[in-house]
Amino acid sequence: MTSSFHFSLLFFFLLSLSPALAKTSFHPHALLLPVQKDPSTLLYVTQLNQGTPLASENLTLDLGGQFLWVDCEKGYSSTSYRAARCGSAKCSLAGADTCVDCSSAATRPGCSKHTCSLFPENTVISAATIGDLGSDVVSIQSTDGFNPGGIVSVPRFLFVCAPTFLLKGLPSGVKGMAGLGRTKISLPSKFSSHFGINKIFAICLTAATRGTGVVFFGPGPYHFLLNTDASTSLFYTPLLLNPISTAAAYSKPTASSDYFIGVTSIRINQITVPNINASLLSIDREGNGGTKISTITPYTVLQTSIYNAVTEFFQNQLSGIPTVAATPPFVLCYNVTNFLSTRVGYNVPPIDLVLQNETVTWTILGANSMVQVSNEVMCLGFVDGGLNPRTSIVIGGYQIEDNLLQFDLGASRLGFTSSLLFRQTTCANFNFTSNT
Ligand SMILES: *[C@@H]1O[C@H](CO)[C@@H](O)[C@H](O)[C@H]1NC(C)=O
Ligand SMILES: *[C@@H]1O[C@H](CO)[C@@H](O)[C@H](O)[C@H]1NC(C)=O
Ligand SMILES: *[C@@H]1O[C@H](CO)[C@@H](O)[C@H](O)[C@H]1NC(C)=O
Ligand SMILES: *[C@@H]1O[C@H](CO)[C@@H](O)[C@H](O)[C@H]1NC(C)=O
Ligand SMILES: *[C@@H]1O[C@H](CO)[C@@H](O)[C@H](O)[C@H]1NC(C)=O
Repeated sequence: MTSSFHFSLLFFFLLSLSPALAKTSFHPHALLLPVQKDPSTLLYVTQLNQGTPLASENLTLDLGGQFLWVDCEKGYSSTSYRAARCGSAKCSLAGADTCVDCSSAATRPGCSKHTCSLFPENTVISAATIGDLGSDVVSIQSTDGFNPGGIVSVPRFLFVCAPTFLLKGLPSGVKGMAGLGRTKISLPSKFSSHFGINKIFAICLTAATRGTGVVFFGPGPYHFLLNTDASTSLFYTPLLLNPISTAAAYSKPTASSDYFIGVTSIRINQITVPNINASLLSIDREGNGGTKISTITPYTVLQTSIYNAVTEFFQNQLSGIPTVAATPPFVLCYNVTNFLSTRVGYNVPPIDLVLQNETVTWTILGANSMVQVSNEVMCLGFVDGGLNPRTSIVIGGYQIEDNLLQFDLGASRLGFTSSLLFRQTTCANFNFTSNT
């Protein structure tokens, strides 16, 4: 009698605990987002599943973006949406102390009573507005680093509701922006805290039409066909914090959510480019200057004096080769027939971004420096950012394609591979065939 009582009690406990155990004990090794390049805007688009019923939505990938924001004004309907009530733990985690009451009688996601708010920003056009903080279920594919695995979900993923007009300038069909920036509520932070995975993520972008690049949340391997683990050949440089926000709007002083690195000089053909004003390369007390990485800037943007120094020096290194007419936004253009095509693009002088010391350099080869604008013409793919940009060097999408970049937020360092083309693979070579 006693033993059978114990048995049934144990059985009861097993029954009641197992669903909870099944949910919490599955720790995915890492997570995966697919990324495509939109050919008309040159922005990168990813897909996330959100809400109840789950709906797949296209979002612009924003490496330095503060959080996920979604257009809730048009077509967002979900039974699991919850507005973040003023003063709640969600609001304090997000640093959202502004309390708003939507004046409309009919509340909906993005228009709630007594809800804390943040400033969702369309970083492509530098426009920001006020938006409700809320949460909803988000689901995402897990991965072992080789193939996609099972789908996992975060029941109360924090995001900000935005009005439809904030989508201006984004690829058609996109519903918002997925921010991977340096904040407590960006995608990497939320996924790492929910699943207990290391606060590390990696991006590997491709320009290939119909090709798919990836974002990995979590540690390597980051496996690309045929047989390359891009996590095993990283060079490292410290990630720098810009203490002054680079956002278009904010309610209280905060650090920038952008990822900065310390470029100390630039070499072309192994020779240091002269006359680069070193003070532009560091971040000053007002948060101006320095070098950041961006997925919403199609081509690397250089402050005018740096731009002039680099393009003149590059042209000098190719002094025997005539230039051809400029193709805006590029100025320095050549006839492709004067260059050999190699595995890593046209054979032009390599451009090295020299980092914390002379031996740590990010090398930009032809595939990432030269943009082919027609069958016959290619141009140096850098653009002039004007005399007084907020940030002196913004490394853009074209220069990071087919390079894997790993952001290790725990160690505050960037791991980078330089071109994967050297290693006979590309960012479009993750094996998206599911093995489950
Ligand atoms: C999202 O983007 C993918 C890939 O570009 C496309 O196939 C799909 O139709 C888009 N979905 C929506 C809802 O726009
Ligand atoms: C270098 O840049 C700093 C910051 O913009 C500026 O104050 C200084 O005048 C520049 N120096 C030269 C020699 O151009
Ligand atoms: C590029 O060079 C080829 C071969 O010399 C020539 O036929 C072509 O007209 C050139 N194109 C331009 C745009 O200069
Ligand atoms: C350069 O920096 C790297 C990484 O921080 C370090 O391992 C290396 O010893 C440094 N080299 C020199 C010459 O200081
Ligand atoms: C991609 O992954 C699938 C599932 O594991 C596997 O069957 C297939 O062989 C892989 N493709 C290549 C080219 O390795």
